[in-house]
Amino acid sequence: MSTFPTLLDTLKKASDRHLSELVEWLRIPSISSDSSRLDEVRQAAVWVAEKLTNAGLKVEMIPTDRHPFVYAETPAVPGAPVVMVYGHYDVQPVEPIDQWISGPFEPTIRDGNLYARGATDDKGQVLTHIQSVCEWLAAGEPLPLQIKFLIEGEEEVGSESLEQRLPAMRDRLACDCVVISDSSQYADGQPAITYGLRGIATYELKLTGPGQDLHSGSFGGAVMNPAIALCHLMSSMVDSEGRIQIPGFYDRVRPLDDIERDQWKALPQTDEQFAEAVGVDQLFGEEGYSTDERRWARPTFDVNGLNSGHQGEGVKTIIPATASVKFSFRLVPDQDPNELTDAIKQHLKQHMPSGVNWSLLPDHGATGMLASTQSPFMEAASQAIEEAFGVEPVLIREGGSIPIVTQFQEVLGCDCLLLGWGLADDNAHSPNEKFRIRDYHCGIQASAVLWEKIGKLNS
Ligand code: BES
Ligand code: ZN
Repeated sequence: MSTFPTLLDTLKKASDRHLSELVEWLRIPSISSDSSRLDEVRQAAVWVAEKLTNAGLKVEMIPTDRHPFVYAETPAVPGAPVVMVYGHYDVQPVEPIDQWISGPFEPTIRDGNLYARGATDDKGQVLTHIQSVCEWLAAGEPLPLQIKFLIEGEEEVGSESLEQRLPAMRDRLACDCVVISDSSQYADGQPAITYGLRGIATYELKLTGPGQDLHSGSFGGAVMNPAIALCHLMSSMVDSEGRIQIPGFYDRVRPLDDIERDQWKALPQTDEQFAEAVGVDQLFGEEGYSTDERRWARPTFDVNGLNSGHQGEGVKTIIPATASVKFSFRLVPDQDPNELTDAIKQHLKQHMPSGVNWSLLPDHGATGMLASTQSPFMEAASQAIEEAFGVEPVLIREGGSIPIVTQFQEVLGCDCLLLGWGLADDNAHSPNEKFRIRDYHCGIQASAVLWEKIGKLNS
């Protein structure tokens, strides 16, 4: 007998509580990159561990050298599939703080949206799956499959601890399919299932010139300025169209096939709509590729932050002693971040002006991911999303990265379902991050239905 519509009714009745629980979690400033916030990051882990414990799951906080992961599981169901829900409780830094309309850790509702850092990335999205499982259990219904939860605190800093531990946790995390909600719908009113993500490689380059800042009148022209050297180096990486100039960079890029290109051409969003949503007059990018192709299947280079010289009020005529830059590449299958690091070192060596010393710090790297679009899990997810959102989802790739996801495929040998409930204008990683409250509730509903559908598949 189907558990529905009883469960859907229960979800409706519990919707205020679901929202207030998300608000509670969002109040905890779990910025994983901020070493002064270790306690708060831990508190966010404790919050989710308690939520899962109270629902009756077997829960463990697994310590690491940095931030703990929370692992929980429901009882095994012989003959039924095992699904692992993966998500993260850590969030990105909040600056520029003066651009937030309400405080990043004071969750506030405006126009049907909940605003706070982590609202969509990823507390709000991962909580949809936790809420759905809690409601199944609270209704006294045995789940028709086993669900494992792995919620980590280092996704936004590259998932290093999890990457190290994954092989040793292989048996415990064994599953048929990983479900991840940490991405977006295609557009407002058009839900999506994501079958591809880009990889990433991030770096910091530090240049040092004179022993201390120098008067640019007395010394300008006689000493290399590290800030200028930095600008030259960054512009040597990329041409005016965004094509990366590092020798060999495109060698391994897997070309797009015509079937995929045609499928994406049929997607409903126009360039004009996309440009308006991002707030630009004109789009930019590599010749010969559409906007979606550029975002999802072509590698790109970005400068993420620059630091040098006088940043305060007014003029200060100096040659700064140092300059540094944080930059990143988005990679596509089959590019390898480690190979790229070697090529970048070579490129920098060749283009480095004399008169500065330099060091390159590679930070994190991950390969791009492609999931099967043919699995029965995909079909189950498509039906569940259509029931909850009222619209059949489209299949898309996305340009962001979830560093651990290719390792799940390789180490656990499982399928991957990326079910994004967010929207492109949710402001992930920027000021005024939000999650539409309706999408939060539809996500919970889709998740609850998904368990029923997957439970009907044989393992
Ligand atoms: N939620 C994102 C990943 C994402 C973004 C998927 C956009 C699909 C579309 C995730 O939290 C994230 O931001 N990952 C980082 C990883 C990096 C810091 C190693 C990213 O993509 O920058
Ligand atoms: Zn993120």
